[in-house]
Amino acid sequence: MPEVVAHRGASAHRAEHTRSAYELALEQGADALECDVRVTRDGHLVCVHDRRIDRTSSGRGVVSALTVAAMAEIDFGRSATELGVLTLDELLGMVRASPRQTKLFVETKHPVRYGGLVEHKLVALLARHGLATPETQADSPVLMMSFASAAVRRFKAAAPAVPTVQLFSRFTGARRGGVLPPWADLAGPDVRLLREDPGFVKRAAALGRDTYCWTVDAAADIDLCRDAGVRYVATNAPRATRLHLADP
Ligand code: G3P
Ligand code: CA
Repeated sequence: MPEVVAHRGASAHRAEHTRSAYELALEQGADALECDVRVTRDGHLVCVHDRRIDRTSSGRGVVSALTVAAMAEIDFGRSATELGVLTLDELLGMVRASPRQTKLFVETKHPVRYGGLVEHKLVALLARHGLATPETQADSPVLMMSFASAAVRRFKAAAPAVPTVQLFSRFTGARRGGVLPPWADLAGPDVRLLREDPGFVKRAAALGRDTYCWTVDAAADIDLCRDAGVRYVATNAPRATRLHLADP
């Protein structure tokens, strides 16, 4: 049975990447959380998907041009109670305080423009939380992922024991055959690729790679992932996905 990953928190029900979206995901029994991270002007990692904050907050501007203090004053929620950006430091604290062994998938954004700064900051933050050097990959509550192979490679070089996911939305080169670079521990295809070619999961498994699939909300996609042998499904609606897996 796939493990359920709450994509941007329980983002079907709460504003994405907010504390309350992640709290609801934990209440709904998600096995893991997913977040996107960007770096602020003053070097803090914050949980924001887009380059700009305009879509997901009451403010305007580019994350890399704003300070974390300025972003703490902006409303990122659907109500005034959710004021302030969520930092990755805070989200790691929530994961560590969770009574269940919840995992966190951290996706680094804008990896090329800043030449590895985001990955460097991520390794330093994980080290501060004592999470950069798990004894084995299976012990690690944190997994790193990116669409940029260079970002995954850089991160793996700095934190070899933390598992990595190579995200992709097209089959290019040998990837359709399940081949991944050595620094990527899991394959991370868009669910649309599995609709076209569910056999990918078994080919990747034969080469030692589990699959993390996104974004899996529709019942037919949940069934497809379960039948194909996907290990992690990222969904905006963790409770509904869990219920469907338990009782298709
Ligand atoms: O979980 C991977 C998925 O989140 C990648 O796409 O655009 O939602 O970050 P995006
Ligand atoms: Ca993401």
